[in-house]
Amino acid sequence: MDLLTQAPKGTSDKLPADMNKWHTVERVCGETAEAYGCKEIRTPVFEHTELFHRSVGDTTDVVQKEMYTFTDNGGRSVTLRPEGTAGAVRASIENGLLNGPMPLKLYYFVRCYRYEKNQKGRFREFNQFGVEYFGARSPLSDAEVIMLAHNAITGLGISQFKLEINSIGCPKCRPKYQQALKDYYKSHEDELCGTCKERLERNPMRLLDCKVESCRKFLPDAPVILDYLCDECREHFDGVKTALDDMKLSYEINGRIVRGLDYYTNTVFEFISTIPGFSGAICAGGRYDGLVEQVGGNPTCGLGFAAGLERLIMIMEAQKLEFAPAKECDIYIASTDEKSALKAFSLVQQLRLVGFWAECDISGRGLRAQMKYADKIGASFSMVLGETELESGKAVLKNMKDGEKLEVSIDGDFAAKASSLLIKI
Ligand code: HAM
Repeated sequence: MDLLTQAPKGTSDKLPADMNKWHTVERVCGETAEAYGCKEIRTPVFEHTELFHRSVGDTTDVVQKEMYTFTDNGGRSVTLRPEGTAGAVRASIENGLLNGPMPLKLYYFVRCYRYEKNQKGRFREFNQFGVEYFGARSPLSDAEVIMLAHNAITGLGISQFKLEINSIGCPKCRPKYQQALKDYYKSHEDELCGTCKERLERNPMRLLDCKVESCRKFLPDAPVILDYLCDECREHFDGVKTALDDMKLSYEINGRIVRGLDYYTNTVFEFISTIPGFSGAICAGGRYDGLVEQVGGNPTCGLGFAAGLERLIMIMEAQKLEFAPAKECDIYIASTDEKSALKAFSLVQQLRLVGFWAECDISGRGLRAQMKYADKIGASFSMVLGETELESGKAVLKNMKDGEKLEVSIDGDFAAKASSLLIKI
């Protein structure tokens, strides 16, 4: 592989021609979050490694196998974030956001890093849109977060997905379930992968999330958490289901969802793609009532989700959905000599200051080449400046789409005069 001219495995360049797709997805997701009162937060791309050990969990695949961790020049261990929740929680504690009015509702766009096997929809560098709510305990908050995710996905036009929900209980009811899992897997211990043998003692629920085939084959007969929920957790889950039913949101209950991160309690959910050839999650999340305290804050309940932007775009493309079109050049002002080139240069500056995409020649090209370029960049209008135009102070503005022409004064407040024409025609 050519190290100089090839991006590292699992990464990709987001090229100018595709930017309208990214902008469409980011706009719809951001606007949806803001309609629910969420405020944007931006956190560092790397954090102290310890943060992810504490939050995501020591026994998860993410921490054990996938993190990009390195020692910086000051001898500290830092990690490129594998997800956005830990950073949002850390930032909320550090900056006192949890002392303000509750619930605190945040959203973010983050670039994440996981050393994963490269396959369809799975990358080593990827982008997430995420939402985190703090201080909301009622099942209605679970339903609201799920609705928010649903509205962002459907707001993009995506229809080929299904919603699956589960409850994974709380520290009160989980030990009983973990014991049942331990008992079940103990009888298959010899066939488990090395990591799972260790997980069997430390965190048996992680066995359900193992991607190794020899471990996965035991999944269908493993005990299901829903059979072990305490009354409180069952009541909470019933409340979430009632609210979703009331909103007529269809979902399936999948007792096998455990999520790949350790911080979850109670409700967990996944929006799964149903397009042919990709059945992964496009968005996933849940409640994490112990996380803030685990990271060093006062006990505060929380919940949220994240959607993979690459996956959203992939599904939109598969469904042949429309993205907002890329912006086109408003006007190209061509010139025939040095003096008019300078005038064109000054006119485009005026237009840019009032928000138009205006272009002129900055490459020393002849008129024919300039007009060819104007055509290539799809300029809506063109204007040619030469000796005559400079002398008369007037030039012809041409609509490149229908050929219509209009004379316009190029002296005085050109931007004000041209603006109304560029918008009107
Ligand atoms: P997650 O399930 O690990 O949860 O990731 C959320 C979403 O990010 C996935 O559903 C998927 O769309 C996308 N994603 C994950 N890994 C990759 C990858 N390697 N390549 C492409 N896309 C990927 C979390 O990250 C939690 N922080 C979500 C959350 C927020 N829970 C509560 N608040």
